[in-house]
Amino acid sequence: MIERNIVLTGFMGTGKTVTGRMLASVLNVDFIDTDAVIVERENMAVARIFQVKGEAYFRDVESVVIEEVSRRKGCVISTGGGAVIMEKNLLALKKNGIVICLTADPAIILLRTSSSKDRPLLLKSKDAIATIRHILKERRPYYLKADHTIDTSAHSTEDTVKAIMGIIKEDKDYAGDKDKA
Ligand code: S3P
Repeated sequence: MIERNIVLTGFMGTGKTVTGRMLASVLNVDFIDTDAVIVERENMAVARIFQVKGEAYFRDVESVVIEEVSRRKGCVISTGGGAVIMEKNLLALKKNGIVICLTADPAIILLRTSSSKDRPLLLKSKDAIATIRHILKERRPYYLKADHTIDTSAHSTEDTVKAIMGIIKEDKDYAGDKDKA
């Protein structure tokens, strides 16, 4: 059993949701995907929210959801790729959790997101790889604030889950749960 949350952040297509779901299953704890909570609450897809209500509205709802889910304990939480841009979101997530940033090569991200119809920041782009590189560069300072970082470019989901299990067993802030993990 884990006491603190394990929070996955990182760019689109780095594997946050699939990894979070498998990790939660391995640890036998709840899995929360903040995008899924937003979609359910707004009753529309992410891309539709961006289109109809705008990105600023999406970010406001995202912050409310993050504040709520951050109060839980012992869960695996997967956040949207832009969540950590707002410092208050990262502070809330760190209050009860260990934040792990998943990264991947831009070409791998492009491959993994190319069929997605629900990523508005990439949908309209005429040069997706350039957009990916640009946003990654802009967000690098925020992603670097994570407690740990894992490059999933050459990882299966199982590999990434194993790497996270290793981190939480060794993490000094997590040690208190070592016997329980
Ligand atoms: C976003 C990433 C998306 C979703 C929205 C905004 C971003 O989540 O929250 O499209 O700003 O990078 P995923 O990272 O799960 O695709």
